[in-house]
Amino acid sequence: MSSSFITLKTIADHQDLIINLQSSELALQGTFKIPGDKSISHRALILGAISQGETIIKGLLLGQDPHNTAVCLRRMGVEIPPLNSDCITFKGVGLKNLQEPLNVLDAGNSGTTIRLMLGLLASHQGHFFCITGDNSLRTRPMSRVVKPLQEMGAKIWGRKNHSLAPLAIQGHNLTPIHYYSSIASAQVKSCILLAGLMTEGKTTITEPTLSRDHSERMLQAFGATLDIDPSTHSVTITGGTPLTGQKVVVPGDISSAAFWLVAGAIVPESELVIKNVGVNPTRTGILEVLAMMEANITFENQRVVTGEPVADLRVKSSRLKACTISEEIIPRLIDEIPILTVAAVFAQGITVIKDAAELRVKESDRLAAIASQLNRMGARITEFPDGLEIVGGTPLTGGELDSYADHRIAMSLVIAALMAKGPTIIHRSEAIAVSYPEFITTLQQLIT
Ligand code: S3P
Repeated sequence: MSSSFITLKTIADHQDLIINLQSSELALQGTFKIPGDKSISHRALILGAISQGETIIKGLLLGQDPHNTAVCLRRMGVEIPPLNSDCITFKGVGLKNLQEPLNVLDAGNSGTTIRLMLGLLASHQGHFFCITGDNSLRTRPMSRVVKPLQEMGAKIWGRKNHSLAPLAIQGHNLTPIHYYSSIASAQVKSCILLAGLMTEGKTTITEPTLSRDHSERMLQAFGATLDIDPSTHSVTITGGTPLTGQKVVVPGDISSAAFWLVAGAIVPESELVIKNVGVNPTRTGILEVLAMMEANITFENQRVVTGEPVADLRVKSSRLKACTISEEIIPRLIDEIPILTVAAVFAQGITVIKDAAELRVKESDRLAAIASQLNRMGARITEFPDGLEIVGGTPLTGGELDSYADHRIAMSLVIAALMAKGPTIIHRSEAIAVSYPEFITTLQQLIT
């Protein structure tokens, strides 16, 4: 089948993606790589920037989010070369040595950039910083990081009682705290660890369940002193230890692989091998859920690359079964819920997703976005304050859809459209470039 049935139309600043495939004749086949992990890419740039000596990063994600992190760091005097997924090398400026930026820092669409940057900046005594973001980021809650930073003595101002960007920060010497977070969030944890790294004494963050641990792994590799207590989900950092530049090899992003894992499972006669996927246990909730749904996925060539577990994943078409997704697994698949909702639409039975209210404060309200757009295609999804109920097995019909300017919603809708009858138009599909600029090209290569 010709892949020319996927077209992009640019209208002013936006792109419509038009998908017009004969779903009954479609299959996906191929062996391919996915782009670098977004979370690890941000952290490699940030830790490299505040280290002494040279950092080498291989496999960096070239999406808009890490690009925004790099631009912020360059504005504060770190000489990061143009981003490149093969290899970049740069020298860090050391702890607490970022320069005061001459202009407002812009995190764009990236929650990780703004929240980690706040932890990094708050301790830069004598410097003044302003940081903002796009329309979506300026509505997302910042009090979850502003509050603990204020407890450490940080001076931060913003709209709605300092809870919304744009935020202004007057750098200041901080005092260590033990912070008990009410949400399992790697952005909150990493923000506090970065602030603690630059604060004399021991700073501890305890979270209700474990969120992704890339910061802990990378901080230890760069020489920080960390004490991790898995039984209480607590991490303690001893501030003041200088970091030393390292070589980081960024694995493929399991959150990007997720679209192909679901596509390979639901599109008949498909078989995909996704090479070099990061399979850190704090991120593999998607694999556990797809196994519960009886997807045919196998691990090959398992290895550890610069401190992160990696594997090749083979997926074959499967008859999916409904399941329940709730509690501690949610933080380990937080970004995969939109694409798992698509999987549930094609599964036999009723899938229930609970304890996922965090999705309402992501790049969009992801529960509302995915439910409303898939329902427009004929799905039977009921929305609850903290989740969704999906009645599987209802055929989809193409239609006119909106991505809500959210990369993961746009890509989830593309996968749903592959199995829909008739053409689908997805408005504002340019959002895909936030985490996976080559997504559509890869799709075109996989269509047989
Ligand atoms: C991220 C953590 C998660 C995730 C986001 C990336 C990170 O957010 O949704 O895409 O890199 O730390 P929360 O920490 O808000 O759950």
